Amino acid sequence: MGTPPPHATDGFWESTGATKTFTHPLDAELLTEFVPRTARVLDYGCGYGRLTAELVGSGYRAVRGVDRSAALIARGRREHPGLALMRWAGFPLPFADRSFDAALLFAVLTCVPDDAGQRAIVGELGRLVRPGGVLYVSDVPLQDDAFHRGQYERFAARYGTYGVFETEDGGVFRHHPPEWLRGLLREAGFAVLRERRTVVPTLDGRTAERLQIMARREPAGAPAESGTG
Ligand SMILES: C[S@@+](CC[C@H](N)C(=O)[O-])C[C@H]1O[C@@H](n2cnc3c(N)ncnc32)[C@H](O)[C@@H]1O
Repeated sequence: MGTPPPHATDGFWESTGATKTFTHPLDAELLTEFVPRTARVLDYGCGYGRLTAELVGSGYRAVRGVDRSAALIARGRREHPGLALMRWAGFPLPFADRSFDAALLFAVLTCVPDDAGQRAIVGELGRLVRPGGVLYVSDVPLQDDAFHRGQYERFAARYGTYGVFETEDGGVFRHHPPEWLRGLLREAGFAVLRERRTVVPTLDGRTAERLQIMARREPAGAPAESGTG
């Protein structure tokens, strides 16, 4: 591969961010309803392989984790030596079209402040997940509390997007209107099958509401109608 251009946030994920304990929980009930144990699963933005390991531990036999942070993949190899973890920093990823039955995208879009970066990720997963396969996204919608509203307002002009904010340790994060997430999925050929909201711990020791979306890859050319059930 050629050397992909660095992202402004890469430094954080190669240093401070790579020492964090990630906290966004997998919803086993939602996963098993839509993803059989035999599925070929891609855990994109796998970090140190936390969920890759959880899937393998619960009987999934063909799971691969990919992350753009060399530090996080190195940590994942130390903590989970048996897992199929790979560092890959650009697109396309080194897999053929439609080579996965399912992909996980957990707490990754919240780390990507710009629209183009988010579109590139979901679009690539649209290439890799076969028609009829699923993308299981869990991310952070805009929060309706005074602290977060204050953060969004403070950084909106700097980043040009309401919902992007900086943390004191140098991270840049983004919370999304749910319709933005649904639109990203639609554009990449996914139709929403199910949504679920719960409250989860965050990296900065607070809690936040998270939104889980299970979406199905539609055949090329089919309209990706969104309906929630
Ligand atoms: C909060 S961690 C979540 C890791 C893992 N999905 C989990 O839930 O344990 C976010 C991950 O996104 C990756 N990441 C950060 N910026 C990214 C970007 N612009 N494109 C792709 N991945 C990115 C980081 O390297 C990190 O592994």
